[in-house]
Amino acid sequence: MSKKLKIPKARVDEVITFFSSINNCKKGKFVLQLCESTACGVKKKHLIGEAIEKKLKIKLGETTSDNLFTFEHTPCFGACDLAPAMRANGIVYGNLTKEKIEKLLDKLSKEFEDNEE
Ligand code: FES
Repeated sequence: MSKKLKIPKARVDEVITFFSSINNCKKGKFVLQLCESTACGVKKKHLIGEAIEKKLKIKLGETTSDNLFTFEHTPCFGACDLAPAMRANGIVYGNLTKEKIEKLLDKLSKEFEDNEE
């Protein structure tokens, strides 16, 4: 990349490591971005994160072995009235509970399987 842009590799690395939405890691088909900001924190977003990790058997920042899901944190994206909120491939899901997140993950998995057939 640095050769293509004709800038030092260190400069590319600076940008990649500064912005949370940019990185050089391989992502899953569905990128789950759980809001880590105040309103979602007050509404116990950590319980949603734990439910995601338990259901998918991955930790924050990881991708499932089938490359279907990547789990990340993100700053507030303006859905505070729906806290705790998450985006999956840019679509906002709010008022999340452990039960809702499990159903959502099942639904996304099924949608992907159906599209593969
Ligand atoms: S604090 Fe979570 S969407 Fe704003």
